[in-house]
Amino acid sequence: MSDPATSLIPARVLVVGGGGRENALAWALGRSHGVEAVWVAPGNGGTAELAGCNQLAIAESDASGLLAACLELAIELVVVGPEGPLAAGLADRLRAGGLAVFGPGAEGAQLEASKQWAKALMVEAAIPTAGYWPASSRDQALAILEAQARPLVVKADGLAAGKGVTVADSLQEARAAIEEIFEGRFGDAGASLVLEERTEGPEVSVFALCDGERLVVLPPAQDHKRIGEGDTGPNTGGMGAYAPAPLLDDAALEDVRQRVLAPTLAALRARGIDYRGVIYAGLMLTPTGMSVIEFNCRFGDPECETLMPLLGPELAQVLFACATGRLDLAPALTIATGCSACVIAAAEGYPGEVRRGDRIDSQLASSDSLQLFHAGSQRQADGSAVTSGGRVLAVVAQADSFDAAFAAAYGGLAQVHFEGITYRRDIGHQVRRS
Ligand code: AMP
Ligand code: GLY
Repeated sequence: MSDPATSLIPARVLVVGGGGRENALAWALGRSHGVEAVWVAPGNGGTAELAGCNQLAIAESDASGLLAACLELAIELVVVGPEGPLAAGLADRLRAGGLAVFGPGAEGAQLEASKQWAKALMVEAAIPTAGYWPASSRDQALAILEAQARPLVVKADGLAAGKGVTVADSLQEARAAIEEIFEGRFGDAGASLVLEERTEGPEVSVFALCDGERLVVLPPAQDHKRIGEGDTGPNTGGMGAYAPAPLLDDAALEDVRQRVLAPTLAALRARGIDYRGVIYAGLMLTPTGMSVIEFNCRFGDPECETLMPLLGPELAQVLFACATGRLDLAPALTIATGCSACVIAAAEGYPGEVRRGDRIDSQLASSDSLQLFHAGSQRQADGSAVTSGGRVLAVVAQADSFDAAFAAAYGGLAQVHFEGITYRRDIGHQVRRS
């Protein structure tokens, strides 16, 4: 007989996206209770090799194509990885077609897609965040800067592929960043901007899985945004991560839930937004307390690769419960107690122009505690994988200590090679003794 808990298990799942995050999601959903088959659109060289995982050659921007494929394949749960399609309304389109979707609609995705919108929501909900000034013209922005007479952080309003923020050290640098935005460097994403007070402190990412009303908080993770060892050089999408980050103990994480995540979800509801997906809070732990640096409407990458191996086989059920607004019916999500370590292997030149088409050789034997996820890779007709993007691979390991987890991740990375492979040797320096 149909047990209400069992009937909430999705057997056929589609993951939308083609990065390391989506490889990790497809892997974790594939091992979830009750999942019979996973599809990934468009996927990458790693998802193409994943047992039980099928590729769909449909772009993440092709909402009509994705909807048609979901209906044809009788997909029961769609998990949308990247922010672009969410901000463009993919989840709305799929929901209108009757599908259960984990990922917010376009309105909720404003949390990431408009910094002005997100800041206004934070102020309204009394969420701790740096002071800010919105501006919609060059002259207005420059006037604010001159009146403040100190270098402010300059943020293009819209999605700018992680390149829209300048943490200026001087007024001159802040002026140049403002000019650049209004000269159109970021297109429509730079039609307006936010100027923000500069704060200092370590950063940590916290993710809440939301069903519109309730939420489940995942262990905190710390990313490494700079390309260079010692956290130097240009910003990247993220060069490695670890979890659970000791920066937030259980009490501090509870504080984040109460003072950031729950009020954000409540403020979204107050705006009539039924937010079903991830709220990603990028926090800075300043000397005067935590401050929200940014919200994203999706999992972080590489935080997702780091966290997925710690999550239990209830994941698909929990995401389905979020997608259907019924987290109250979901089983508790088991979270392993160990440490997870992730190191990203990038292509030569990253985060600038990179070489592509280099063959990826791997002797790495994945196990329950060691995973190789692909990001910028493509499978060739002969079955080999070649590099096709900036961040190419993520090697992730779990162990009882961070030292052991990083030793295993770097040991795994030594089994993988492609021409020009570039990675930081100091990922996790904050928590490693060796
Ligand atoms: P975002 O693109 O919003 O993730 O910002 C990129 C990076 O800029 C963050 O990870 C921070 O390191 C830095 N940043 C953003 N806002 C501030 C701020 N108000 N003060 C200092 N650094 C900031
Ligand atoms: N790891 C940073 C991000 O996904 O935005």
